[in-house]
Amino acid sequence: MARKVRVGIIGCGKIAHMDHVPHYLRIKNAEIVSLLDIKGSQITKLKEAFHLSAQAFTSEREFFDSGLDAVTICTPNCFHYAQTIAALKRDMHVLCEKPMAATPGECTRMVAAATRQKRVLHINQSLRYLPLYVTIAEVVKKGAIGTPLHVRCIRAGGTTPDKGWSPGAKWFVSKEFQGGLILDIAVHMADMMKWVAGPITHVAAYADTRLKHIDVPDNVTTMMRFANGATGVLELSWTFPVGAGYFEVYGSKGMLRQGFDSAHPIEIVKPGGKGTAPKTTYPPLKKSVKTSQQVFVDAILGKSPSATPGELGRDAVAICDAIAKSGQTGKFVPVKQY
Ligand SMILES: NC(=O)c1ccc[n+]([C@@H]2O[C@H](COP(=O)([O-])OP(=O)(O)OC[C@H]3O[C@@H](n4cnc5c(N)ncnc54)[C@H](O)[C@@H]3O)[C@@H](O)[C@H]2O)c1
Repeated sequence: MARKVRVGIIGCGKIAHMDHVPHYLRIKNAEIVSLLDIKGSQITKLKEAFHLSAQAFTSEREFFDSGLDAVTICTPNCFHYAQTIAALKRDMHVLCEKPMAATPGECTRMVAAATRQKRVLHINQSLRYLPLYVTIAEVVKKGAIGTPLHVRCIRAGGTTPDKGWSPGAKWFVSKEFQGGLILDIAVHMADMMKWVAGPITHVAAYADTRLKHIDVPDNVTTMMRFANGATGVLELSWTFPVGAGYFEVYGSKGMLRQGFDSAHPIEIVKPGGKGTAPKTTYPPLKKSVKTSQQVFVDAILGKSPSATPGELGRDAVAICDAIAKSGQTGKFVPVKQY
């Protein structure tokens, strides 16, 4: 394809502002030509913020008829499946936000549609494009701490995303729109745990709704079993007045830990490291990591495959599905393997 990849964005809210538009604008062989949102005011805000000359649409049919090669789907979770299928049917490549869809079954149908149409289906499992997490995965994979034996992750804060991240976006805390802590955060962090320690085979979860005005889990603690025999614990909350984010991997030759937030360095603690001041090394963060949008465009142009294709997004949703089922039944639930 000699000309630029013509991209349309569906959903002009927070993630379009924070991630997709600024990153597409830095890609030489792509251009944002169309924007779709059910609220015209959202399109106007996005256009003004980035001085975009893209065409604005509030009708899906007209948007899809605007001569696009690819779409980026940034709508509430419940729309990802239908909008992805609609775009693939029109021979467009798709970058879909996480969670790829609400159920593993929907994800499977999305993967099949992309295969049938011979189009790229790329999921924005965005941690896999952040230097911090790329570095953690590489350090573990290169054997700095030996074989992973146990993984711990806590992501806790005091606000739901409709109050903190995207004020007013009530869908984040609504079952009808497939919101909730599991599809919002477990989909990232369980994928990250799988990235460092391999496939997750079973989960056991407590999933509570502590806030009175919402109908989705806001506190979820999950125990995990990995295929290699390792164990894991994932602790998530939207209601801790004082929260934190830690990621720790205990291995046969040492331990990696990172936290309290993303600004903190990665520490490697070797056996014999003592107390609160262990012997540590701080591996330099990988400086240049391709953005998710660049990886998507490169996949469309046949330069390199997507690092987070539909199959990977589906596996993350399958873990979430098992967590949700375990939270409902109080039982250990196997994670569907593909
Ligand atoms: N990768 C990440 O780290 C990350 C971070 C935040 C959000 N997300 C995901 O991105 C998606 C959007 O999140 P957000 O924070 O931008 O939400 P948001 O509420 O800020 O924006 C969503 C936008 O979609 C529009 N919209 C709603 N229904 C629509 C429809 N049927 N067709 C077209 N437009 C529609 C809304 O008007 C709004 O402008 C979600 O799936 C979310 O999980 C991913």
